[in-house]
Amino acid sequence: MKIVSMDISHVPAIAALEEQLFSAPWDEASVRGELINELSLWLVAEEDGCVLGYIGSQTVLGESDMLNLAVHPDHRRKGIGRMLTQALCDSLRQKGSQCITLEVRTSNNPAKSLYGSMGFVSVGRRPRYYSRPTEDADILRKELLP
Ligand SMILES: CC(C)(COP(=O)(O)OP(=O)(O)OC[C@H]1O[C@@H](n2cnc3c(N)ncnc32)[C@H](O)[C@@H]1OP(=O)(O)O)[C@@H](O)C(=O)NCCC(=O)NCCS
Repeated sequence: MKIVSMDISHVPAIAALEEQLFSAPWDEASVRGELINELSLWLVAEEDGCVLGYIGSQTVLGESDMLNLAVHPDHRRKGIGRMLTQALCDSLRQKGSQCITLEVRTSNNPAKSLYGSMGFVSVGRRPRYYSRPTEDADILRKELLP
């Protein structure tokens, strides 16, 4: 397994996982658009040409937002989510980003456990941020610079 920058070959598999896993999925055109968005950095965990997981971000004025993180259901609890998150933080830090912020469903204990173990801290809540089902988002942040 290796972690690489997203390229056009990854887009259909990422869009399929979005559709499978999220209530407001990014469609294929939106994911493809990230390839030409100079604010965006997306990384993919790839093995033998298969997408095992991915993570997406956008950075504006030195502050990054994590847009999504997913690992294929057949490949969870192998450390891939942690590796993707670490690789993204390292890359953004090297590019000079000061911090990374994300939203997560309040009930998403696997993701909250992962982020907590990596130094993300809660900085607020967005009421009714998610739909299908409606749910609040916890806002988490991690400082990237020492
Ligand atoms: C959240 C997600 C990305 C984790 O990916 P993963 O590759 O399985 O995670 P890892 O194997 O790297 O696990 C890292 C840590 O996350 C936590 N974790 C992961 N899955 C967990 C689970 N089912 N229950 C509790 N904690 C869990 C643990 O702290 C784990 O560390 P440990 O294995 O040392 O206990 C994955 O479950 C997923 O794709 N979920 C659906 C999409 C999603 O919710 N994305 C996040 C949106 S904000």
